[in-house]
Amino acid sequence: MTDRIAEIRAEAEQAIAAATDTHGLEEVRIQYLGRKAELPNLLRNVAELPAAERAATGKAANEARKALEAAIEQRAEQLAAAELDQRLERDRVDITLDGDPVPQLGHLHLITQTQREIEDVFIGLGFNVAEGPEVETVYYNFDALNFDSTHPSRLMTDTFYVQPTDDIFDPSARLLRVHTSPVQIRAMEQQPPPIYIVIPGRVYRPDNDATHTPQFHQMEGLAVDTDITLGDLQGTLLTFARAIFGDERQVRLRPHFFPFTEPSVEVDVSCFNCVGGVTAEGERCGLCKGEGWIEILGAGMVDPNVFGYVRRNGYDPERVQGFAFGMGIERIAMLKHGVPDLRLIYDNDVRFLEQFG
Ligand code: DAH
Repeated sequence: MTDRIAEIRAEAEQAIAAATDTHGLEEVRIQYLGRKAELPNLLRNVAELPAAERAATGKAANEARKALEAAIEQRAEQLAAAELDQRLERDRVDITLDGDPVPQLGHLHLITQTQREIEDVFIGLGFNVAEGPEVETVYYNFDALNFDSTHPSRLMTDTFYVQPTDDIFDPSARLLRVHTSPVQIRAMEQQPPPIYIVIPGRVYRPDNDATHTPQFHQMEGLAVDTDITLGDLQGTLLTFARAIFGDERQVRLRPHFFPFTEPSVEVDVSCFNCVGGVTAEGERCGLCKGEGWIEILGAGMVDPNVFGYVRRNGYDPERVQGFAFGMGIERIAMLKHGVPDLRLIYDNDVRFLEQFG
C-alpha cells in the first residue's frame, strides 16, 4: 500500500509542477486531494485495513497529503504572481497620452469675449476698467445723472425697484441699475480728474422680446480732463469702431438727448455689409435697412450739472470737461457676428455657443 501512496505522490507532484495556471492547478488539487480522490479515500478508510498495515499506511498517506498540500500552495503562489505580472503588462496604460477623443476645451461666452475685446481697445487708448454695483440707489442711477423728476424711466413700471418702495423719488431707494452710467459718479467720487475709464456690467430693464432681454450688458465710457472736446469723443469712437468693425469704417454723430450729457449724440457706424445701403448684389442691405449707417451707441459731453454732484471731489465744471458714451455689448456682438435674435445669446444651446470658440 505504501508503494501505491508513493506512486500517487510522485504523479501528483509532477502534475503540480506541470500546471501552467491557477485554474489548471485547482483541477490537479481536485484530482489528487478532492473528495473523490484516491489518497483522501485511503486516509478515510485506514481503520479498515489489517492492523499490521494501518500505522505505516496512515503515516505515509498523511505525509503524502501534507506534502502535496504544501506543494500546491507553493505552486499557487508562483502561478498567481506570474498571472499578476502578465495582467499588469497587458493592462498597462500610458497615462501621459491624450484622452480619446481629445476632450473639447470650453471657451468664453460670446458676451465675455466681446466685452474683453472692447475693453482691450480702450485699454490700448489709455483707459482703465472700473466696475460698480448692480443694485443701485435712485441717487446714483437717476439724481446725480441729472435725470428730471418727470423722466419716464423713473417709473415703477419701467425699472426694477428692489424693495417695494412707496417713494420712487427717495434718493436712497434701491433698484436694479438700468444702465452702467451710475458708475461714472461712483468713479469720480473715488478719483479726482483726469479720469479715463470704461465700465462693463449687467443692467436691468423690464423688456423681453427679440431685441430686448430683462438683463443685458453695457459698456460705459468716461473721459474727464482739461480741454476735452467733442472732437476727442469722435476720434475715440472712430478708433473703437474701426478696431471692432474693420479699418474701413466711418462714424457719424446725430443730435440726441440724454439727461447727463450736453450736447448728446447718437453714434452710427458705416455699414460693413454694403456700400451706402446697397449690397454687392445690388440689393437693399438688410443689416442697415438700406441706410448705409448702423446705430451703435449713445454719447455726449458730460453735462456740467453732473460735475456739480462731484464738485467736492475735484470736478469743477468751470475747469474740467469730459465726454461719455454707453453701448449695449449684446448689440455690438450681434452686429459683428450677424446674430439674428438676442435670445440666442442666452439660450445656452451649445450649437450656438460653439460657433464662437
Ligand atoms: N445710459 C444710456 C442708456 O442706457 C447710454 C448712454 C448714452 C451712456 C450717452 C452715456 C452717454 O454715457 O453719454 O441708454
